[in-house]
Amino acid sequence: MIALRVAGTGRFLPEREITNEDLSRTLDTSDEWIRSRTGIRRRRILDPGDPPADMGVAAARAALKRAGLTPRDVDLLLVATNVPEEIIPGSAPFIAEGLGLSHEPPFFDVKAGCAGFVFGVAIAGALMESGLAGNALVVGIEALSRFVDWEDRKTCVLFGDGAGAVVLVRDSGGERGILGVSLHGDATKRELLRIAAGGVRLPASPQTVAEKKHFLEMKGRGVYQSAVTMMERATVEAAQRAGISLSDIDWLLPHQANLRIIEALVKRLGFPRERVLVNIDRVANTSTASIPILLDEAVRDGMIREGHILALTAFGAGACYGTVILRW
Ligand SMILES: CC(C)(COP(=O)(O)OP(=O)(O)OC[C@H]1O[C@@H](n2cnc3c(N)ncnc32)[C@H](O)[C@@H]1OP(=O)(O)O)[C@@H](O)C(=O)NCCC(=O)NCCS
Repeated sequence: MIALRVAGTGRFLPEREITNEDLSRTLDTSDEWIRSRTGIRRRRILDPGDPPADMGVAAARAALKRAGLTPRDVDLLLVATNVPEEIIPGSAPFIAEGLGLSHEPPFFDVKAGCAGFVFGVAIAGALMESGLAGNALVVGIEALSRFVDWEDRKTCVLFGDGAGAVVLVRDSGGERGILGVSLHGDATKRELLRIAAGGVRLPASPQTVAEKKHFLEMKGRGVYQSAVTMMERATVEAAQRAGISLSDIDWLLPHQANLRIIEALVKRLGFPRERVLVNIDRVANTSTASIPILLDEAVRDGMIREGHILALTAFGAGACYGTVILRW
């Protein structure tokens, strides 16, 4: 067990809301199609020109405030995101700058697709356990609206923008902490989700722009099929490593990619639906931000209480996937 406590959580969602009906005015789609295939009804979208890092800073400030800490208390900052503020140096320096981390703690981006936040919590826990870090701030931030083709109904309806954050502090002597972790990657699924251009393999050029290669490409069916078995495997394995059975888990917080994926996962795990947290109807798939946003909502609503066991599970591009089991 890694003894730690989630001392604070925070989230930020942009003001602007786009409903399925709004999308159906410009796209050949419908509320019925989107809702029945994905469970999504609406999503929040960051205004063009607003820096995504500001969302991460706002979520982080809220988490620190609830933890009763200040930016000065952050010994490690991990930022999970798919699409960085800049390719170099990524997103973490922008969050550090926004928070005013003038004491220069280490910071870096975690790139593990939509599983980035789960990977980030596990990495932060391991660094805390090893003594390399004291208090850790883990932020999930995503503005995929900037990288979806708003003319492609197969992808643009699925995503929303937002950010969430947690503050992890050491908690020696108690029962709280990370009980079990399972992290994996299946590179044979590397092409299920990608933005092909803009990296070193295919640098930006007039041709890549003309061919729309800077937008997110997705093999929806393949993602769907892999997601369920990946999250199932990771959750079963993390529970085994934690020495608990699935029925000991009070709350399952799955990555919010598609309601049907969540329902298929729950069915395969034989897990009670009423103990599964879901907000995809309101915020859509916010990628790395989905689990910390969900977590913050449940904490604010008083659903998660001391002693509860939580399973955070996600999959995403790479294909990276994993589960972290925490005692709150
Ligand atoms: C995206 C997803 C909802 C599509 O559902 P699906 O049943 O697999 O649908 P398909 O892609 O096979 O498309 C079926 C038809 O619906 C159409 N369609 C796709 N998106 C549509 C939309 N928004 N509105 C209306 N029709 C749509 C397709 O064009 C296709 O029509 P065609 O048969 O005439 O070509 C589903 O595959 C999914 O959720 N995958 C996982 C995606 C995901 O989680 N991504 C994030 C990973 S972190």
